[in-house]
Amino acid sequence: MAHAPASRRRFLSTGLTGAAAIWVPKPVHGYTAAEVRAAIADVGISKWDLDTPALCVDLDAFERNIAALQARVTRNGIAARPHAKTHKTAAIARRQLEAGAIGICTAKLSEAEALFREGIEPICMTTGNLAPGKIRRAMQLRKANRHFIQAVDEPGNARDLSDAAREAGVTADVVIDVAVGTRTGVPAGDDALALARLVETLPHLRLRGLLAYDGGAQHVDGFAARKARALSGLAAAAATREAMVRAGLNTEIFSGGGTGTYSVDHLTPGFTDVQAGSYVFMDMQYLAIGQEDGAPVYGDFTPSLTVVATVMNNRFPNRLTTDAGAKALTLNIPRAGVVGEPGMDYNAGSDEFGVITFTEAARSYRIGDRIEMIVPHCDPVVNLYDQIYAIRNDRVEAVWPVTARGKSQ
Ligand SMILES: Cc1ncc(COP(=O)(O)O)c(C=O)c1O
Repeated sequence: MAHAPASRRRFLSTGLTGAAAIWVPKPVHGYTAAEVRAAIADVGISKWDLDTPALCVDLDAFERNIAALQARVTRNGIAARPHAKTHKTAAIARRQLEAGAIGICTAKLSEAEALFREGIEPICMTTGNLAPGKIRRAMQLRKANRHFIQAVDEPGNARDLSDAAREAGVTADVVIDVAVGTRTGVPAGDDALALARLVETLPHLRLRGLLAYDGGAQHVDGFAARKARALSGLAAAAATREAMVRAGLNTEIFSGGGTGTYSVDHLTPGFTDVQAGSYVFMDMQYLAIGQEDGAPVYGDFTPSLTVVATVMNNRFPNRLTTDAGAKALTLNIPRAGVVGEPGMDYNAGSDEFGVITFTEAARSYRIGDRIEMIVPHCDPVVNLYDQIYAIRNDRVEAVWPVTARGKSQ
């Protein structure tokens, strides 16, 4: 992944934009009484009064992002199946589904279980479950949730899943995870076709199609290069899909793609839906990948996720210390972007503290003042927080528990 040069960083950190939108608060479903009590306590207060570090999402930007992706993929004749590994939050999955997503994806079984407990049903788990305990649990989840779909990328695993499905008394829906690159998945071509044929013959599995996610394409710098990489990366999976069609196998799902390629994934023949995750929040990594018109900042989506921190020390020239270090922002490369302060460099390299250095600042900062950062990479940051403050016009409109926080098994 390419990182933003200093001039681009300056531009990136000039701030959040906001356009007013009408949004009717919906009742919160499925939280425990304690969660709701805890959440209500903060509703209505200014985001600048929150205890820090505080994870905030700007609702106007967030809603625009959900609507923009949905509109674009619909226009392109495909669907959205957003990846919940980004937000791990039932309240957000619900909004994505209400906006028209055909399902959500999860990376981990415990994530899928937690979201299902909060009422999210159309879940596609994009990672295989390989250990015996996980295979049994996945099939128990399938038993409880008939909308659960499981990825498989290995013949032995397909047989184990079928056995566990029989024990659970279900016929489980599965998709073949076709490798793009070398991370996970069965190699495209003969191996993938053989696995699809095997799944078709196993008595307790139902073949639904294939996944092909190219993680390496998402952050390619520059739109033209990214598009070329996305299309060439998926060519072998598309050929596999064709072979599956010729063999009479079900390919109703051909899913992949992410925030960097969502606008070109439909050009791959047979492709059905995009698994973008980060688009709801955006982050410094994604802002730096460049836009279709050649602009350096990727502006298809607006940064909505920020961490609000408190200035703890202003006693040294051209330097501030905050209470948001690695335990609040996770990564230090690329650097967090300080909202409204293009000249500031934010170093989250120490566990508990952020160190800001600058030659010029837009304003002066006293101890106790708040300062707001666009996060380096959204997924691991969300996993650090119990709750996300949903903010409109600087006020807390809702508090969303991060449903699957820490659910990494
Ligand atoms: C399988 C899969 N699909 C989709 C995504 C979503 O990608 P992004 O957050 O870049 O949109 C990821 C992210 O890592 C992924 O692993």
